[in-house]
Amino acid sequence: MLIRSPQDWELPESAATEEKFYHLSKRRDFLKSIGVAGVALAARDLLGATAGFPAKENPAYPASALKPTSYDLITSYNNFYEFGTDKDEPKPNSKKWKPEPWTVEIAGLIRNPVKIDVNDLIGKLGGIEQRVYRMRCVEAWSMVIPWDGFPLSKLVAFADPKPEAKFLKLTTILDPKNLPGQQENILRWPYVEGLHLDEANNELAFIATGIYGKPIPNQNGAPLRLVTPWKYGFKGVKSIAKIEFVAEQPMNTWRVMAPREYGFLANVNPTVDHPRWSQASERIIGGGGLLGARQKTLMFNGYEKQVAALYQGVDLKKFY
Ligand code: MTE
Repeated sequence: MLIRSPQDWELPESAATEEKFYHLSKRRDFLKSIGVAGVALAARDLLGATAGFPAKENPAYPASALKPTSYDLITSYNNFYEFGTDKDEPKPNSKKWKPEPWTVEIAGLIRNPVKIDVNDLIGKLGGIEQRVYRMRCVEAWSMVIPWDGFPLSKLVAFADPKPEAKFLKLTTILDPKNLPGQQENILRWPYVEGLHLDEANNELAFIATGIYGKPIPNQNGAPLRLVTPWKYGFKGVKSIAKIEFVAEQPMNTWRVMAPREYGFLANVNPTVDHPRWSQASERIIGGGGLLGARQKTLMFNGYEKQVAALYQGVDLKKFY
């Protein structure tokens, strides 16, 4: 009999966020169970960033290691200020938005600058895979999300950076007509995030094109969205239109808005509190109870093994 030893970043059994365990291998049953008809899926497959579905599970980040939050919660409890500032607004407010066709610009200090259709890009990068990652928001709540997509390192290799390139700057589409939040002065638009080049090349850094084996819904950042599970959720810039390779550290949106509250690295760190929220523990979305179940927050959100080497010699209390 095979005995699987759990890894230190895995959630304990008691921290289940969903009663019914989800197996990616049973994706079709699952889709049926949430009422997604095959016909509807086929129609959707003709549109948008749908290349590569169904994707193969990456065995390093399996569904069996963590208990994913329900599809319903992942896609209805969102931060996407372009479509409203309340958690329940992005889903209804982005329903009519059509992020297709979608061109991504890859630019800056690279040898292969391109403007490319998102599906062509996915094809050139060798398709997509599935990974189940933990997600921790700086507001001290957490989920577990089965993402589909590709490692960001593949896009970096495709872009072929010049030696002067030290950072990535990732920018959301600017389209106030269709993204109503951009008509208001809530944030400085368009939303921008950044990573060090070596962070972008870390095995965990991921560009999501899907959730639970289906094209990523508008409210979660269709058709392309950054996922860096060891960092707070605000690093996960949605609906990316441009990726630039630059020499200087870019200013990220939340740092522009509140430099004393938000940093550039934004690594999950239970020992460094946000001025308004303790980061020692987190509320599990869908965890039950009136206020939701809580669990202790882990250093780098439980991904210390994969990322700690990136920050050797960095004072993580100072550079948050
Ligand atoms: N990207 C854009 N373009 N606009 C946003 O408002 N919110 C960020 C991030 N990406 C945001 C964004 C924040 S604060 C979080 S916590 C995550 O998206 C939320 O992702 P989710 O809604 O898929 O959980």
